[in-house]
Amino acid sequence: MHGERTPELVVDNAQHSDIIQSRVHDLLMSMGLDEKVGQMSQLQAGGGWIPDELADSIRRGQVGSVLNEPDVEVVNELQRIAVEESRLGIPLLVGRDVIHGYKTIFPIPLGQAASWNPTVVEAGARVSAEEAVRSGINWTFAPMIDITRDPRWGRIAESLGEDPYLCSELGSAMVRGFQGETLTASDSIAACAKHFAGYGAAEGGRDYNTANIPENEMRNVYLRPFKAAADAGVATFMSAFCDLNGVPATGNQWLMDQVLRQEWRYQGMVVSDWESIVEMSVHGFTHDDEQAAYEAAMAGIDMEMASSSYRDHLENMVDQGKISLEQIDRMVERILRLKFELGLFEQPYTDPSQHPELLNKSNLKAAKQAAMQSCVLLKNEHQTLPLLPAKLDAIALLGPLADDGFEQMGTWVFDGEACHSVTCLQAITELIGRTTEINYVKALETTRAASEDGFSEAIEAVTQSDAAVVVVGEEAFMSGEAHSRASIDLPGHQKALIEAAASTGKPVVVVIMAGRPLTIEPILEYADAVLYAWHPGTMGGPAIADLLFGLESPSGKLPVTFPKVVGQVPIHYAQKNTGRPATEETCIDINEVPPRAPQTSLGMTSFHLDAGFKPLFPFGFGLSYGRFQYVKITTSHHSIGLGQSLDVSADIVNMGSYAGEEVVQLYVRDLVGNVTRPIKELKGFRRIRLKPGERQRISFRLHTDDLAFFNRDMQLVTEPGQFHVWIGGSSDAPLWAEFEVHA
Ligand code: BGC
Repeated sequence: MHGERTPELVVDNAQHSDIIQSRVHDLLMSMGLDEKVGQMSQLQAGGGWIPDELADSIRRGQVGSVLNEPDVEVVNELQRIAVEESRLGIPLLVGRDVIHGYKTIFPIPLGQAASWNPTVVEAGARVSAEEAVRSGINWTFAPMIDITRDPRWGRIAESLGEDPYLCSELGSAMVRGFQGETLTASDSIAACAKHFAGYGAAEGGRDYNTANIPENEMRNVYLRPFKAAADAGVATFMSAFCDLNGVPATGNQWLMDQVLRQEWRYQGMVVSDWESIVEMSVHGFTHDDEQAAYEAAMAGIDMEMASSSYRDHLENMVDQGKISLEQIDRMVERILRLKFELGLFEQPYTDPSQHPELLNKSNLKAAKQAAMQSCVLLKNEHQTLPLLPAKLDAIALLGPLADDGFEQMGTWVFDGEACHSVTCLQAITELIGRTTEINYVKALETTRAASEDGFSEAIEAVTQSDAAVVVVGEEAFMSGEAHSRASIDLPGHQKALIEAAASTGKPVVVVIMAGRPLTIEPILEYADAVLYAWHPGTMGGPAIADLLFGLESPSGKLPVTFPKVVGQVPIHYAQKNTGRPATEETCIDINEVPPRAPQTSLGMTSFHLDAGFKPLFPFGFGLSYGRFQYVKITTSHHSIGLGQSLDVSADIVNMGSYAGEEVVQLYVRDLVGNVTRPIKELKGFRRIRLKPGERQRISFRLHTDDLAFFNRDMQLVTEPGQFHVWIGGSSDAPLWAEFEVHA
């Protein structure tokens, strides 16, 4: 049930919005063109001080927003100059990339997505907002809801994975978390849906690269999370850096105007990305900054980030009649409306003492919970995990990331500090150090290091212990903006370190901290258990320790497919069937082909000779200490009419001896469509907790609207026909049923 507003509240909101509308209107009437253009400009702040030029610009009404000023005293002074010394006293939007935490750092967004838990994700954004407002920040550039199916792309770390449904659910949860009940609340900040759109499909995973996405796929995949964010009330959008089908997103009228404004009726403001307006000339789309400003304004970019093409050229273009004043007014209106909605005119200043402490207990608890639910157990042979402290006299703890508070925070951390992180070494020592000896050897200086000088000491430590925990992965800088990789193997000599640990014959548990899926197949044979922790943030250590030693069971599920080798990319679960889908029978293995083999009809399907057709781990996959079995799938109806719903249900039983949480997933396939449909699409998920032996029946309600897709004419339709439906613990789940939709 969606929360229904009481009639009184509806009137209140409507009145509130009318009041804001008339205040915006009055203010606009008193503004000169230069002041309007000023509102459309966002400038880089000094970072701890106020450059004279910035102060003067604010005084002259030439600045609508600043970004990257985390010092609250400086922010208050900037606001004071805007409010007291500029002619109209319009306060500033103060923007910052608060991506996965402010001081309390949560797992990277891709890690949070592995929780498949909107409640946890919303709580993370809430904590981030509560901490950020103490510094006077009133606008974050998050969530990033670019669908990406390419783990080479460094910004996959900042994404919510490959699937439009999961990304929509979690992206909207982030919006709710940042913006709170109402933007006016003193602990709410405006969110920003970015990067509109297609940025995650950059060619070859190289950042900032071209995205070529057919309109149908654009609408069925890439735009869906943005529509969901708009529906969730996200206050702002940011344009993408990329060239989208030949027209840079920042100047793309189809995207920014036709889709966003006309079709979706989106009322919020749109900001460019960093200098993305002037970069349109570098793309070769415009001749110079003036033309770039023109194209961006015509597309509907309300505010320019960092560069100054609006400040330098918009006034002239209006004077020359190239851009109408009405258009400028519409854009400025959206900016002013946000400032009113945030309550900045009433309260432009920040008093940190009025807000809860940074890094307080409850924030750390939320970060630990998020980190715990983000970890995905990928392998657990012979139930190596959980490790039972009572049976361990000593464990060896190895690896470059076992005790590195900085690297575990991951990419996009402007304000978090390593000194607040609790590492695996610290947490494991705290948890079991009184009864179990912990033999820690870093063994490799960094994740990229090649020197094996530390290996003999590491082997000695494992030999002296009952088991080894090896914490490896990528350093924080190896993912994130402009930090793409062509090889996504475990870097440096980390594989050799795992092999060395395994050579002792002791059980080896590998914990991986990384900003993306890595091609970890080569290490699987040396690891008895693998726990994928992403970059887990401030409380990564305690979360991992609790999981390793069985205080809680892992429950994360992959939000993105893990390839066996990078050459399989892009590989994702919601692919199309093709005319020649591969099966185990039709797939041939390069190693089994005899010399001078004729080209036979065997193998004439869609796969790689050297990698088959399956990924290493499918989307949605993740093990638990519990053992969940899915049985008895049923549908409430065999056939339903358009506009009706049916229930799909299954029993889930925990056959294991540990309690645990499981993310139950619902997938659908529309067998025939006016455009071909994916072989599976996620349509629902639910987290449940089951004790050993416990059984629960889970039902999902599917409405025929949930089956809608954009057809050849770009209309959103549900077509009558046959459907398959699955319930299970991953996108590879075998338990299925069928139903029909009739006209
Ligand atoms: C990124 C944005 C970010 C902005 C401001 C750009 O380089 O693409 O995502 O919000 O910088 O820091």
